[in-house]
Amino acid sequence: MIEGRSLVEPEDFSLSEMESLFSLAEKIEKDEKYLRECLKGRLLATLFFEPSTRTRLSFEAAMLRLGGNCLGFAEPGSSSASKGESLADTIRMAASYADAIVMRNPKEGAALLASRYSSVPVINAGDGGHHHPTQTLTDLLTIRRLLGNIENITVGFCGDLKFGRTVHSLAKALSRYPKIKMIFISPAELVLPEYIKSILVKQKVQFEEREGLEESMNELDVLYMTRVQRERFFNEDDYIRLKDIYVLNGEKLSLAKKSAVVLHPLPRVNEISVEIDDDPRAAYFKQAKYGMYVRMALLASILGAI
Ligand code: NCD
Repeated sequence: MIEGRSLVEPEDFSLSEMESLFSLAEKIEKDEKYLRECLKGRLLATLFFEPSTRTRLSFEAAMLRLGGNCLGFAEPGSSSASKGESLADTIRMAASYADAIVMRNPKEGAALLASRYSSVPVINAGDGGHHHPTQTLTDLLTIRRLLGNIENITVGFCGDLKFGRTVHSLAKALSRYPKIKMIFISPAELVLPEYIKSILVKQKVQFEEREGLEESMNELDVLYMTRVQRERFFNEDDYIRLKDIYVLNGEKLSLAKKSAVVLHPLPRVNEISVEIDDDPRAAYFKQAKYGMYVRMALLASILGAI
């Protein structure tokens, strides 16, 4: 039962709770009318202190499709944060107007703090370079839908593994599933943070760190590409030097297994060439759509409509 609970990090839910969300999302995908109107009269506050396309729109679409409504802001300049209001006060207010809060914030730990001040569930839609648990639900549902289950697979993560919050959340979440091997492909400056690696070690996950993408292609069941996170760099020159270090094109994809799945949380910049968009292995647009279904399942469950 996840009714009334916040989602700050992926492991706030047990594997069986996530499994129930995935089955519910699949039911909604098959019959888009299922659960329609179940959140009639309920309100979701969407507080986005950082840019977003998919996460915000898919949450809003999810809430509206379930019969509920949304209120909120898409940039902090239009909220009282720009007048110096503390996050705690903004959250107390939003919690008094809405039944649940979805928040994206540039500060690591902001979602945890918000969940402590809120009288309604808080869903973390990204806190700085830390975590992004609903993207993880999206990624896991996509893997489950396209590969049949989430076990006994090799997952390659490629790009900005240092600042990429979707990578941190997904690696941590996958470490709870059986027989997952992870290969982390990045330049030395953008390797996975130590705290995530120590979780993997503790969970006895088999993993390797490498710099080359081509040499890894034929081993992977899932390739998770990521954008270099410009907004989290201190130095623009470093960003420019690193931004195009990996570009997945047709030639590199030809080295992959026929059954491989290419994921990307999006937005992409240059790291996936548009020439592979029609390849059956390119699943990133499907993934974005699954994101809406799993957020419908999440909202219906957290708000106790099911
Ligand atoms: C990601 C994010 O915001 O962390 N986008 C998303 O929510 N789908 C990835 C990114 O911005 O690179």
